[in-house]
Amino acid sequence: MNSPVPLHPQHPFPPDFVWGVATSAFQIEGAAQADGRGESIWDRFCRQPGAIADGSNGDLACDHYHRLESDLDLIAGLGVDAYRFSMSWPRVQPSGSGPVNEAGMAFYERLVDGLIRRGIKPYLTLNHWDLPQALQDQGGWAARETVHRFVDYARLAAARLGHRVVSITTHNEPWVMAVLGHEHGIFAPGQRHRGTAMQVAHHLLLSHGLALQALRADGCPARLGIVLNLSPIGPATSSPEDAAAARLEDGRSVRWYMDPLFKGQYPEDVWQHLGSDAPQVQPGDMDIIATPMDFLGVNYYTRGVVSASGAWNVHQGGKPLTDMGWEIVPEGLTELLLRMHRDWQLPPLYVKENGAAFQDTLVQTDAGPRVHDQERTDYIASHIAAVGDALAQGVPMVGYMVWSLMDNFEWASGYAKRFGIVHVDYATLQRTPKDSYLWYRDFLQAQHAQRAPVAAAAA
Ligand code: FCB
Repeated sequence: MNSPVPLHPQHPFPPDFVWGVATSAFQIEGAAQADGRGESIWDRFCRQPGAIADGSNGDLACDHYHRLESDLDLIAGLGVDAYRFSMSWPRVQPSGSGPVNEAGMAFYERLVDGLIRRGIKPYLTLNHWDLPQALQDQGGWAARETVHRFVDYARLAAARLGHRVVSITTHNEPWVMAVLGHEHGIFAPGQRHRGTAMQVAHHLLLSHGLALQALRADGCPARLGIVLNLSPIGPATSSPEDAAAARLEDGRSVRWYMDPLFKGQYPEDVWQHLGSDAPQVQPGDMDIIATPMDFLGVNYYTRGVVSASGAWNVHQGGKPLTDMGWEIVPEGLTELLLRMHRDWQLPPLYVKENGAAFQDTLVQTDAGPRVHDQERTDYIASHIAAVGDALAQGVPMVGYMVWSLMDNFEWASGYAKRFGIVHVDYATLQRTPKDSYLWYRDFLQAQHAQRAPVAAAAA
């Protein structure tokens, strides 16, 4: 795959389509002890022997906290419309309740101001998994009280930044926090109990709805929504057992979130299947969860292929894999978006994360250091085309964001898996834009060039 990737996808994108790039606080900031930051559940989890593949942690990460201005220049150099980042809850409210930690909040004020100065729209996520450890010590997301702590935190964040950011996402990927964190135990806080996981998922959804209501009551002008990780899920074989397993997995990972958010109810088949592991739901909860959103974000990396034996990513052969071992299936993104459009009444829809890990090599060239990551460029370009296909078929797509701006702490995989379009040398922390960064920059330039006559005509 060495041919140049076309800069113009088959289907044109509307001039107001939002192109972006994404990161999250714990994965890039480092500065774990700086300026009064509290401990998060990921700090604690990283210290459990065997929890992180390379034994690493987020103490230094990309040291983004201390390299803010030059990282902002890297974002600006791409020519994106938007930057999606998350706020570290324990940095701005170290124990998860009480007054703002001003020194921590100042970082996000500088970040948002720096974006606006560079003409980039700030997209804020409140919870990208780094719950204050102090709240975990009181039961974490399994405790209903945490819902109210989150609403307080959301209000305090919005009071400072709600007028300057374009968009606020409550939670990133509730399924991951609930199921990988509390049922499979491979992510923080490392628990293994299905009933706990389902209670956590309910509390995340409830806190999302309550936060939306509170921010709107406060007059927050930012657009409000949530980001889900979704995949099309299919059976590994044509056996009825695999078909039933796929239907259940679709229920647990897709419908368990989409149905309450857009229909105000949990899917009956999954509820029955869960038995005593179904969550405690109080009267009124479902209406709160279904509070209308201004947008929905979806993160897409691969499809799910499920067998009755419990596997969810059975490789059916023929599909290339990323360094995560995930199949590369761009048409799965179109399929997913069309299905969402068919089965639910969607608000404006973004792809909020899409990208791939590959084993990159930094090479010295006459033009300086380079990373020739053709596979990542192909991945991104083919998925952008897949979004274009969905748009052409009527799905209300309004934006697309690449994961990720730079290589970073990939959770349980540590630093070994590189998702960045900018290479990070972890010994020197030097940043080197990869070829995929240069391609995305050129692609965006071509998009913007198409925009200009439209804008001029409208003026
Ligand atoms: C998503 C996470 C993001 C990143 C990518 C690869 O599940 O939201 O932080 O780790 O996967």
